[in-house]
Amino acid sequence: MKPKQVEEFKVWLKDYISDFYGDDEFINANIKLKEDHSYRVCEEMDYLTASLGLDDNMRRIAYVSALFHDLGRFGQFVKWRTYADSRSESHAELALDVISETGILARIDSRESSLIIKAIKYHGIKQLSDGLDDDELLFCKLLRDADKLDIYYVVIKYYGEYEKDPDGFKLELELPDIGGYTDEVIDEILAGRRVDYIKLRSWNDMKLLQLGWVYDVNFNAAMQRIKDRRYLEKILHYMPEDKRLEKVKDKLFKYVNRRLENER
Ligand SMILES: [Fe+2]
Repeated sequence: MKPKQVEEFKVWLKDYISDFYGDDEFINANIKLKEDHSYRVCEEMDYLTASLGLDDNMRRIAYVSALFHDLGRFGQFVKWRTYADSRSESHAELALDVISETGILARIDSRESSLIIKAIKYHGIKQLSDGLDDDELLFCKLLRDADKLDIYYVVIKYYGEYEKDPDGFKLELELPDIGGYTDEVIDEILAGRRVDYIKLRSWNDMKLLQLGWVYDVNFNAAMQRIKDRRYLEKILHYMPEDKRLEKVKDKLFKYVNRRLENER
């Protein structure tokens, strides 16, 4: 892939997204959220691939996977008015539909486009499946880490906005803000397991799930950013105190520190 092609993809995406803006402020705010997210995930990806010392072409493939990973989000929100895949369609599959319908990746090498498509397909699933080759696995892992780094940034920002002005909050609450934590979700985290979306009942459970994402972080460079930016501490700031939460904190901070020590 040539550097010029990456530039063309950026222009194409901007143009593609522009069609989803209209008169509905609720839709506009949500489209903007994912547009900005897409560009920031590209920045996170640049940082990760530089830290890993990947060659320029590998870095471009990874970059384009980041650029296009949420291509399905725009149509999803306009059609369903939600980003919850469970109440609409899988946004990863929707992205693949957009890629095939527009033929946007047809202009690059087929192996490169297939790596990008695989990374997008698996970026949001609970756990990567077996059967991926080394390069496929690498790009999948990179995208999952880059995406999570920015989702941490996004959710922390909107927890702050919601706290300040819950009634004026323009974005969608995917789960009810009912307070308290679901025992099953706490148990999963304490057992060192990734939490399943199906188990979530409240907004606080969603925060628990986000804390638990650290178990799914692949690269030291991503973990280091989570620590340096104090993402866990910031999410915890918006969570009501609870004895069980103290255990969760202890478990997760120890886990992050151990990972960083071991990989050094
Ligand atoms: Fe994303």
